[in-house]
Amino acid sequence: MRSAPFTLLLSAFLFAAGCSDSGDGNGDETTGSGSATGGTGGGTTSASSGATSGSGGDATSASSGATSGSGGDATSASSGATSGSGGATSASSGAGGEGAGGSDGAGGGASARVPAASASTLREAGEKANPPILIGAAISGGGLGNNDYKRVAAAEHSYVTAENEMKWDSLEPSAGNFSWGSADNIVNWARQNNMKVKGHTLVWHNQLPGWMSSMTGKDNVTAAMRRHITQVMGHFKDRVDTWDVVNEAVQTDSDTGVGNPRMRPSVFLNQIGENYIDLAFQIAREQDPKAKLYYNDYSIDARNAKVDFVYNMVKGMVDRGVPIDGVGFQMHIGPPNNEATGADVAANLKRFTDLGLEVLISEMDINRCGGVVTAEEQLAYYHDIVEACFKLPKCTGITFWGINDGRSWLNSWSGALCNGQSSQSLLFNDQYGKKETYNRVMNALLGK
Ligand code: XIL
Repeated sequence: MRSAPFTLLLSAFLFAAGCSDSGDGNGDETTGSGSATGGTGGGTTSASSGATSGSGGDATSASSGATSGSGGDATSASSGATSGSGGATSASSGAGGEGAGGSDGAGGGASARVPAASASTLREAGEKANPPILIGAAISGGGLGNNDYKRVAAAEHSYVTAENEMKWDSLEPSAGNFSWGSADNIVNWARQNNMKVKGHTLVWHNQLPGWMSSMTGKDNVTAAMRRHITQVMGHFKDRVDTWDVVNEAVQTDSDTGVGNPRMRPSVFLNQIGENYIDLAFQIAREQDPKAKLYYNDYSIDARNAKVDFVYNMVKGMVDRGVPIDGVGFQMHIGPPNNEATGADVAANLKRFTDLGLEVLISEMDINRCGGVVTAEEQLAYYHDIVEACFKLPKCTGITFWGINDGRSWLNSWSGALCNGQSSQSLLFNDQYGKKETYNRVMNALLGK
């Protein structure tokens, strides 16, 4: 599955589909997609280099041996391949972490999470675990117009992320004029159903209104960012206690996380400089001293060049005393993003928690379009990746990016190779029936 020929095939698919060009879709709701390669670069260049580095490249993520982020793509990819299977845990490792004695103790010190003896919903399995774990879903305003959707969403989940309604273009469509209605609907619905809410997302290059993405001048952009963070967190204070403060600030040549990791160009990077990330977290902390503040990104799920870069970035923040509490791993598995085995994910999450941070799986789906991930692989991934998070007490939640296949964002996003067909990526089918993917997730939550 992760073999080089296979990766070549995937790269060829991605290249043919031109997925890397979606970076021009700044703010475009349909193609905008967080996982687009970037705001500016894009184009044929990065598409072809993505394909190239993909060939040797995925060796990196496969091997997990790849070292630090800064080095070049092809090089670190092949050296990763060399260290191959052996080097799995390299960086932080040690300890063997999970699996030790299953004792209790919510949060911090526990060495393993204890599963519920039984549960009839995912939500209940999460709530009865010790320590508990949040089971989330991306919720859309459109979905809440459907009774089956609402029923399944509230019965099976304890955690909500607004799929689009808390993004910049939705909340502040024109400068200084905030529009809270559609976000408030989702947050209020969540609270009526005793669900927690994560705010997604304060600072992101995508789904930014034109007035913001075209702004010039360091002082102007800093002031606009400060106003946005302050107003948004202030509005939802006491209703939202966890925030994706910065989303997807790092890019690589390939959306799989391989090749030349670097800070992603955006109005924030271009006008403020790399310091915008520290600044965003500091502003968020000033606004809410108790909120959990997260960095969130895609294709950082296994070990690859991108996640090594993110690890170094986040470690630098911790070392500098920047108020970051955790890292969200989007876990969009399959085209055009990375794949990750349970063992990869376990080792990867562990090294971030060794920095003293919380982690969570923030946007999980497993795309079957293009035939890249087989049905069997999808089932194994769902079980093993959920298990990897579940076993780690500092992995605080698992959020799926949608409720049912029919409404998945992947179906209509060109990079995902679905062309309007179902991505078959989630836990419920079009009639809101449980799929085998649901059973595998439930097993993992029950320690089976
Ligand atoms: C997606 C939504 O699901 C789509 O409806 C929208 O058109 C584009 O954005 N990474 C993120 C999410 O952080 O916000 C993205 O959500 C998916 C990728």
